[in-house]
Amino acid sequence: MSRFFDLVSKPAREMGGYQPSPPPGPGLSSLSSRLVRLDSNENPFGPSPHAIEAMQSALSTANCYPDDDCSRLRRRLAEYHDVAPEQVLVTAGSTGVLSLLCQTMLGPGLNAVTSERSFIVYAMAVHATGAQLIEAPMRGDTLDLAAILNAIDGNTRLILLANPNNPTGTMLDAAAVDDFLGQTPPHVVVVLDEAYCEFAQHFASLYGMEYSRSLDYVRLGAGVVVLRTFSKAHGLAGLRIGYGLGPAELLGYCARMRNTFSVSSVAQAAALAALDDQGHIARTVANNQEQAQVLREDLSQLGCRVVPTAANFLYCDIGEDATGLAALLRNEGVSVRPLAAWGAPHAIRVSIGTSEQNQFFLAAARNIAARAQRASRA
Ligand SMILES: Cc1ncc(COP(=O)(O)O)c(C=O)c1O
Repeated sequence: MSRFFDLVSKPAREMGGYQPSPPPGPGLSSLSSRLVRLDSNENPFGPSPHAIEAMQSALSTANCYPDDDCSRLRRRLAEYHDVAPEQVLVTAGSTGVLSLLCQTMLGPGLNAVTSERSFIVYAMAVHATGAQLIEAPMRGDTLDLAAILNAIDGNTRLILLANPNNPTGTMLDAAAVDDFLGQTPPHVVVVLDEAYCEFAQHFASLYGMEYSRSLDYVRLGAGVVVLRTFSKAHGLAGLRIGYGLGPAELLGYCARMRNTFSVSSVAQAAALAALDDQGHIARTVANNQEQAQVLREDLSQLGCRVVPTAANFLYCDIGEDATGLAALLRNEGVSVRPLAAWGAPHAIRVSIGTSEQNQFFLAAARNIAARAQRASRA
């Protein structure tokens, strides 16, 4: 019995999908000089050294098109997450899965529901299909699941939940998501965007919480798609590689809609190596947790309201125009993200860097605060 046929868009139903040649054999496989970039939630330690080695050896076959199906990586991810390979879809960044889901499930007259102050790419991906994005209000700085449920109507096809949320960094725990999924109607697919899962997992175990049981829903064949990426903890943002885990039938429709050869052979090789470099991930998440605390304490002392994070960035409400502060910080050699476009004109998002990067940023912030104080006294 076909579960999604009546829900997907007309093109998704009618396209035959690209038929690639059989994959090739086993032979196939930021910073400007002064600017400290704390604006894009990247891994401050760079890619895993194992991934760099794998990329270097993949370069010699860069004249060949990549394995369009990412079959080796897909099989490895399936084994890693204990799901079937058909339940894995690899794309150029996890936003690739998001776009495919939107193209596959949305269109004019339909809508997706998310929260206000969430990942900015959601609006782009949804609007590109002619559908509407409904943004439910938040509860404080946290996604309000009751408000999101309330916003669902008969034309809703997708719910987009960033967990942890970007830019507020707040996390929903496994019980809250269980409860939410128990109440979502069968005509919607819930996207659990877990781009920052390695950081969240680390914070959750520190606080004795359970972060997520998302993979259990996938194993049960629920109407849930989990997004994961190599852009964050694995340090491969520039390579563009991520994936979704969900119902095989639905991901099959999405796969028909994708651009051919969109995931490079170099990216596939790097992801395979990065997945197994647990040491690099452990170093990354440990630094992140330690530095989150340092930044939070120091920024609070400067008078910012800093939201406790479950990710690799901090949401700081400075209580006044943050776009101006971001410009001043840039003059001091630090780039952070002002959040006016998210409807938060008094807030910035600061990625958590290395100790050196964070101290450079804090020194710049202190200089600016001292100058402002002197000016107000004069
Ligand atoms: C909520 C969320 N999802 C996904 C991503 C990553 O997207 P990609 O995997 O396409 O790099 C980000 C990166 O900023 C994000 O904040």
